Amino acid sequence: MLRGQDRRQAMMLLGGGLLAAGCGGVPSARSEEAAAASLHELAAAKGLRFGTAMAARQLDDPNYVEIVKRECGAIVAENEHKIYTILAEEDEWNFGPADALARFAEEEVLAMRGHTLIWSHPRWLPDWLNNTAFDAQGAEAWIDSYVARVAGRYSPQVYSWDVINEAVDDKTGELRETTFTRAMGFDALTHSFHAAKEAAPGATLAYNDYMSWEEGNEGHRTGVLRLLERLKKDGAPIDALGIQSHSNYNMPNEFTAERQRAWRGFVDEVVGMGLDIYLTEFDVNDTRLGPDEAMRDRLIADYTKDYLDMMLSYPQTKDLLAWGMVDKDSWLQTFLPREDDVEKRPTVYDSDYQAKPMREAIVAALRAAPVRS
Ligand code: XIL
Repeated sequence: MLRGQDRRQAMMLLGGGLLAAGCGGVPSARSEEAAAASLHELAAAKGLRFGTAMAARQLDDPNYVEIVKRECGAIVAENEHKIYTILAEEDEWNFGPADALARFAEEEVLAMRGHTLIWSHPRWLPDWLNNTAFDAQGAEAWIDSYVARVAGRYSPQVYSWDVINEAVDDKTGELRETTFTRAMGFDALTHSFHAAKEAAPGATLAYNDYMSWEEGNEGHRTGVLRLLERLKKDGAPIDALGIQSHSNYNMPNEFTAERQRAWRGFVDEVVGMGLDIYLTEFDVNDTRLGPDEAMRDRLIADYTKDYLDMMLSYPQTKDLLAWGMVDKDSWLQTFLPREDDVEKRPTVYDSDYQAKPMREAIVAALRAAPVRS
């Protein structure tokens, strides 16, 4: 408890020097004002949560820890809650890394989100599980016992779970086939939501996916809408859609008015179903932008402001979670790599732990966001 109070005081004290250190020059009055509050405080003032993904190994990085403590109100495990970490081998349960993050969250009074109970994509399920042939009863029993053990272990700490991740094929819009859907069909998904509700009755439950505003996402968006409608119709206890918010293939300057209109249409349909929105994995890819850092930072910040202005204008949007806070640790350094060997700049802080213009864009979007309950 004391550590949490210390953390809040530290946030107030450190906030003022943040951008002064980050920009290397005399900070403008605007940036000083923007730096005075943490992203978490600005978000909380609007009834939102701001947080980040964190890996257990980052607990050993004092600079990363400092940023998380200063800026965030929530963390989500980058890989530690996934089946490929918890149960990489059959019957060899590995809760150590997730427990370490959970302990850190508790000590620092950070909320903890859960990602993800079932990553419904064979590429991200361990081979032993992909190779297990279940009948319907067996699949149901496996889901029940796994979800009870994992969601139960972190209940009531984890306030929200991604119950299912990426179940829709992004090309066809159809349900991806897994060892569970082969046995149970769509019921594998509905059943997972019921199992999560039973194991973690206080947590909100989300379906999470990477459909986006980008070109070529129309089929993916339609598939996700169909999936959400079916979950609702079948009575699954679903509260929210997790919109990962990676922009991977189109660059930040390609968020055109036309694409924004189409994207808004999708989000309108989701909230029309009575679902909340969580922005679960925000970052911005710069694979195909030129190497100039200032130019990339500017385009990324402009896009961040536009995207968040739209998404936070929905009172149903409750969480804004970044997929990492420091460039050098971003998964995008290896996913869709650049052709030159220049480091990508997809997150809020650069690799020297200095705030970038993306931070100011998030500050501005949070300040502009309407208050939600
Ligand atoms: C990524 C992690 O960042 C990587 O470290 C890991 O190798 C693969 O998974 N969508 C998701 C996240 O739902 O779980 C992914 O995280 C990024 C894309």
